[in-house]
Amino acid sequence: MGARPVHGVPSTVTRRTILFGTAAATLLASAGCVPYSRDAINTVGDITFNNPLRIPALAASTVDGDGVRTFDLTAHAGTTEFLTGKQTPTWGFNRSYLGETLRARRGEKVRFNVRNELDETTTVHWHGMHLPAEMDGTPHQPVRPGGQWHPHWTIHQQAATLWYHPHPHGETEDHVNNGLAGMFIIDDDESDRLDLPGRYGVDDVPVIVQDRSFDDEGEFTTSYRGINGFLGDNLLVNGTYAPYLDVQTDLVRLRILNGSSARIYNFKFDDGRRFDLIGTDGGLLDRPRQMKNIVLSPAERAEIIVRMKPGSRTTLRSAPQELGAGFLTTGAGGNDRMDVLQLRARPALEPGGPLPARLAAVEPLRPDASATKREFVLDGIEINGKQMDMGRIDTVVPASNLEVWTVRNVAGQPHNFHIHDVQFQVLEVDGHAPPPELTGSKDTIFLPGKSAARIAVPFGTYTNPRVPYMYHCHLLWHEDRGMMGQFTVVDPDQVESAPRTLNMKEMHSHE
Ligand code: C2O
Ligand code: CU
Ligand code: CU
Repeated sequence: MGARPVHGVPSTVTRRTILFGTAAATLLASAGCVPYSRDAINTVGDITFNNPLRIPALAASTVDGDGVRTFDLTAHAGTTEFLTGKQTPTWGFNRSYLGETLRARRGEKVRFNVRNELDETTTVHWHGMHLPAEMDGTPHQPVRPGGQWHPHWTIHQQAATLWYHPHPHGETEDHVNNGLAGMFIIDDDESDRLDLPGRYGVDDVPVIVQDRSFDDEGEFTTSYRGINGFLGDNLLVNGTYAPYLDVQTDLVRLRILNGSSARIYNFKFDDGRRFDLIGTDGGLLDRPRQMKNIVLSPAERAEIIVRMKPGSRTTLRSAPQELGAGFLTTGAGGNDRMDVLQLRARPALEPGGPLPARLAAVEPLRPDASATKREFVLDGIEINGKQMDMGRIDTVVPASNLEVWTVRNVAGQPHNFHIHDVQFQVLEVDGHAPPPELTGSKDTIFLPGKSAARIAVPFGTYTNPRVPYMYHCHLLWHEDRGMMGQFTVVDPDQVESAPRTLNMKEMHSHE
């Protein structure tokens, strides 16, 4: 792809470099190493919201006689018009930018015909999914240009808003920034019985938030790179610049995904209204929680319910907390004020009932004193002093083990921590009970500088001593540079004998 963003080497002078003002900063910017203490971005009041929010189509699927639901998913290059009259070279799954929304039910068998029509190797990882390691779409399951891959598994987890994206080692930020990312919605009987807004694209709306920068030709540029990677100065929602949502019902459910590579959002509404948080990464909470704001670091999700009055408007915004958030997210956009999405209610709205008082039956995980404990220290771009080595297994976990992991960010800069294959529960944050947004199932937890969390991690029964899963920082530039480790899940009596190294030549020779 000719217009593929090149790390740190802007080909044209961008708005960003002009914004710096000083010659020194411009020099630094053109050398690709920009100080992260640049002026805060403020787009509040500058956005006209003249584009209807694009809704990624639900991907078609077929169900065969054995009940296997099969999807075709093709990664390809194309162009997308974000800015009027400008065609941006982009990548997408079944569309020119982002991916179609996948949807399947708990208990269902799913299968994918993944095709790679790009001219470089990619992978498709099912973020938040409990599944066998061979199906996980990590760097160990590369799909070569022109190649195919046919992962399949049975869905064994509660209704949730998951997502999918590439995971090629060292290239994830690039591939996601070019547009490869989509939502994966799981339904189940329990959530179907709840009276929640559920018409896709009408009152149950995907909101994939990403920051992007454009050059004069309308091409993506990633020239602004701080210590946490790329930070864009414009927001796209589902690939829509300056979006508004035409609201037809008095309750609207937003499934918000932070699909950005480094930017950390503190979402709230411009009028300070409260909303109900009903779900997080791994599914619905036990009950709705009234909130005024929610912080999402890259890859985290939040399902919220917003109440609208006929004819009213409100704007979803990301802005610093009165105290602290900017500091907590240094170098990740925490001081920026950016308008995200305008909700525009029609003059007459379909009424919705009150929200159910109880949502999901979330069984609290209560590891006892004898539970396996592990510690993960995040510093620089290392985990426990190491960088990713695809040939090294860092952690071997016995199947069905409920473990307690302590994750400590000892650095001043923000990180987060994502674990493949599991949905964990947060026991403690900095020694305190978790806040409302961390009371449900999570696969990614934000760790501001100098913070720590204790989490209960329920490992499942899929075993494979030779194919690892990953845990990593989901700030994609950190991940790409190796802030990642590998773990296998094995039969409990094989923990000692399981391999600690992998022969990469052997593993990838058949591809
Ligand atoms: Cu969303 Cu290992 O990733
Ligand atoms: Cu993942
Ligand atoms: Cu990080």
